[in-house]
Amino acid sequence: MNISFLKKRKATSLGIDIGTSSIKMVELTKGEDVLKLTNYAEIISPKLERKSFTPLEMSSTQVLGEGIAELIKKTLKEAQVRTRLASISIPVFSSFITTMTLPFMTKEEVAQAVTFQARQYIPVPISEVVLDWTLLKEIPEGGPPQKIPILLVAVPEEIIRKYTDIAALSGLQVKALEVETFSLARSLIQDDKSSICLVDFGARGTNITIVDGGMVKVCRSIETSGSEMTKVLAGSLNIDFKRAEDIKKERGIRRGGGEEEISQIISPLVDIIFFEIEKITAIYFQKNGTRVVKFILTGGTAKLPGLVEYFVEKFGREVRIGDPFRGIECPPVLTPILKEIGPSFAVAVGLAMRELR
Ligand SMILES: Nc1ncnc2c1ncn2[C@@H]1O[C@H](COP(=O)(O)OP(=O)(O)OP(=O)(O)O)[C@@H](O)[C@H]1O
Ligand SMILES: [Mg+2]
Repeated sequence: MNISFLKKRKATSLGIDIGTSSIKMVELTKGEDVLKLTNYAEIISPKLERKSFTPLEMSSTQVLGEGIAELIKKTLKEAQVRTRLASISIPVFSSFITTMTLPFMTKEEVAQAVTFQARQYIPVPISEVVLDWTLLKEIPEGGPPQKIPILLVAVPEEIIRKYTDIAALSGLQVKALEVETFSLARSLIQDDKSSICLVDFGARGTNITIVDGGMVKVCRSIETSGSEMTKVLAGSLNIDFKRAEDIKKERGIRRGGGEEEISQIISPLVDIIFFEIEKITAIYFQKNGTRVVKFILTGGTAKLPGLVEYFVEKFGREVRIGDPFRGIECPPVLTPILKEIGPSFAVAVGLAMRELR
């Protein structure tokens, strides 16, 4: 007897990351006890054509709009994506993530106090943001009263509206909107409870996050980025952006073998990022007494040749490029491709995982 019609429909989830240089989509399906990759796609700017995986430069304002929705719609159809229920990321640079401490109080009191106190920490009117928060430490029952650390996340309503408009125009139903750093923590860190510095080297900016005990504790965004590296290289060598982009990807900041010139142009920008990482991790150590034990790098610029080595030289700790597809079932022929595109797809994978874990 064929009883397949009685089988429960497999849960499928779609993650969409609207990045500055490209839009990434990942569809995952929940198997018996593994997640399976059932689809992925990338839409490249500036013409927003769907091509292979070579991100080009484009400003985020150009990215948002009707054109993008048209392309998402077309891609969903062409790639035969099964579900229209999507989780979509919000960039760190469009949100405010900060920590605050409250005096000792009950869990019920915290909810009210957070909204009230948040005004002091968020630089825009509280009525114009969507506010979320989480306890960074459980409130102890019994024992001496302690201050209560809170992570605050605020996203301007205007940003939420832009993303929900794009989703609606794309024929998508929004399951969740999530600030990208939380998606990254899900896809790259999973069960590791150690003190980790997660660095997302994107096209428009670099996000530095400390994840400790599996929770996002601190997150900062700086403007030094992959496309800035390309621009500086193009200016210094007097070449066009496309050519500079190719040289950057090929040579990066590797030293030796007559490649000093390119490295000398790009590495001062990496040094700016290092300076910020040092500052953020030192403040975290001062406040919490916890030292970051490893660095996980992600974002397309994490593939900059020589970056991992330079990182190790500077910080002398474990450094690796995160692999968001680790543990996800996929056809073996895709393994080398997924390794290559992993850094750019980490946010989209984390978004797709959100509803399946
Ligand atoms: N092999 C490589 N070496 C160096 N840089 C690379 C390499 N491959 C891609 N990049 C750079 O990665 C960047 C794109 O990365 P990514 O896809 O993570 O950005 P994005 O998500 O679109 O941008 P953002 O997160 O800043 O909005 C571009 O600046 C590109 O030049
Ligand atoms: Mg990105």
